[in-house]
Amino acid sequence: MSESRLNQPLHGPQYDLRALGFKTHEVLVVTGAGSGIGKATAIMAAKSGLAVGLWDVDLAGANETAREIAAAGGNSLAVAVDVGEDEAVTKAWEATRALGPCRYLVNNAGPGSSSTGAFNDNLTLAVGSVHRVTTSWLELHAGVAASVVSISSVAGNFMGGSETLQAFYPAAKGAIAAYTRHLATRYKGKPRANAIAPGVILTPRTIPYLGQPAMSGNIARIPMGRAGFPEEIAASVLFLLSPAGGYINGVLLPVDGGWIHS
Ligand SMILES: NC(=O)c1ccc[n+]([C@@H]2O[C@H](COP(=O)([O-])OP(=O)(O)OC[C@H]3O[C@@H](n4cnc5c(N)ncnc54)[C@H](O)[C@@H]3O)[C@@H](O)[C@H]2O)c1
Repeated sequence: MSESRLNQPLHGPQYDLRALGFKTHEVLVVTGAGSGIGKATAIMAAKSGLAVGLWDVDLAGANETAREIAAAGGNSLAVAVDVGEDEAVTKAWEATRALGPCRYLVNNAGPGSSSTGAFNDNLTLAVGSVHRVTTSWLELHAGVAASVVSISSVAGNFMGGSETLQAFYPAAKGAIAAYTRHLATRYKGKPRANAIAPGVILTPRTIPYLGQPAMSGNIARIPMGRAGFPEEIAASVLFLLSPAGGYINGVLLPVDGGWIHS
C-alpha cells in the first residue's frame, strides 16, 4: 500500500520523551516488538534512553528493530519468545537479565482480530499471555517493577464487534481492560497498571485491509478523518508508563481519533 493510494503517510513523527522522567538505561520489555505498535514503542523508548528487551516470536522482526535502535544510538536486546508458552517466557526473562532489572513492561503481543482457530484457544492465548508475562515479571522483579501498560482495543470496550472481527477478539480485549483494573488494585500501585485502546492504527497487520469496504467505512467514521500512526500509540503508551503519568492507575485510554464518539 503506497502512501499516495492511502492518501496519508504510514508513519507519524518521533517524539523526544526524555522529559517524562525515565532514567537513562532503565529497562523496559516490550512484547511483540518486531512489528507495528510494539516496534514503534520500543524504538521511541530506546531513543528516550531506556534499554529495551525486544520480545517477539518472530526473531527476524525483533532483530530488525534492534538494528534500527542501534543505528539511532540506543540499547536493546532481541529475544525470541512465544508469550503463549510458560517455558519460553521463563527463558526470555533469563535472557533479558543481561539488560538489568526490568522496571517497565508493555504487553502488546497478541493474536490478530481475524485470527482463525478455536475461540477458547485464542482467548486463552490473548489474555493468558498478558497474565503469564506480568506475573512472571512481578515474581522476578518485585520492588523494581514500576509500571505496566497492556494493549487492549476499542473493540470489546467502547464498541461491539463487526463481521470482520473473530468473536474471541472483543472478548479478549475487554478482559485485558478488566485484568488491568485488577492489577491496579491488587498491587496498590506497585506497579501501576494501565491499558491503551487503539482505534484503527496503520501497522503491517492492518495495512493489507486498507481500501477494503469495511476498513474504508471505519476510517470514514473517525472524526479526524484518518487512521492513527503506531508512533501515536507509542507516545501514549510511554506517557502512561512513565513517572510523568505517576498518578494514573487502572485506566483504559482510547487513542482512536475520536472514533468511539462518532
Ligand atoms: N493495528 C491496530 O489497528 C490495532 C487496533 C487495536 C488493537 N491493536 C493491538 O495492538 C497490538 C499490536 O498490533 P499490531 O497491529 O502492531 O500487530 P503486528 O502484527 O504489526 O505486530 C504484532 C507483533 O507481535 C508478535 N507476536 C504475535 N504473537 C506473538 C506471541 N505469541 N509471542 C510473541 N510475539 C508475538 C508478532 O510476531 C508481531 O511482531 C495487538 O495486541 C493488537 O490486538 C492493534
